[in-house]
Amino acid sequence: MGFLHYFSGDEDRRARFIFNLIAPVYGLIDHSIRDNYLAVTDELNTIFPLKGRTVLDVGTGTGGWISALARYPLKEAVGVDFSEKMIRQARKKHPEVRFEVSDGKNLEMFPDGAFDLVTCSFVMHGMKRDLREKVLKEMFRVADKVVAVHDFSGSLSWPTRMLERLERSDYRNFLQTFGEELSFFSGNVRVLNVRKGNGLYLGWK
Ligand SMILES: C[S@@+](CC[C@H](N)C(=O)[O-])C[C@H]1O[C@@H](n2cnc3c(N)ncnc32)[C@H](O)[C@@H]1O
Repeated sequence: MGFLHYFSGDEDRRARFIFNLIAPVYGLIDHSIRDNYLAVTDELNTIFPLKGRTVLDVGTGTGGWISALARYPLKEAVGVDFSEKMIRQARKKHPEVRFEVSDGKNLEMFPDGAFDLVTCSFVMHGMKRDLREKVLKEMFRVADKVVAVHDFSGSLSWPTRMLERLERSDYRNFLQTFGEELSFFSGNVRVLNVRKGNGLYLGWK
């Protein structure tokens, strides 16, 4: 995968290129956001008790979010990502979690209702709406009880906005419409502003 993939009109190809490129240093970001992930997963636990659950995390990166969830402990913790290099780092860092290479819009390795909870953390804002819908559809298919999306919910600092533009993410539209997008898949949606511009978007099945 070469540098020209950054300019590709194919959204997936561009994202895989970017995340494979930054995978070796992503663990450092992971470390700096650890406290945040611990606090948000604690909050999620008050709404949906996590102990003994089966959980799938889509777009898991180097596994920071799923490892915060795995503390409870879970009955089964699985993380998937379409970046092979992210998964390689995740396996080294979090042996307590099972990691697989998979595209979030095609989770065919898992049957319907395979997990109590299906999550993703800071993945959805990066995609355009039609791709978000495809990934959400798969997340709801493999979820038995709840889908939880952890992502932006308020205004972004200017350095974060710069990074998002560089990544060519869809964060502006995401902030405006994601709650509504989720309600196409769930009749029971809750949106919580949890911490410093972080949101938890929850949809029950
Ligand atoms: C900003 S990172 C977030 C990583 C991790 N969830 C976290 O919170 O630290 C976004 C991740 O989503 C992955 N990703 C984006 N689109 C995906 C897709 N369609 N299927 C699987 N993974 C995807 C990227 O490879 C990247 O690792």
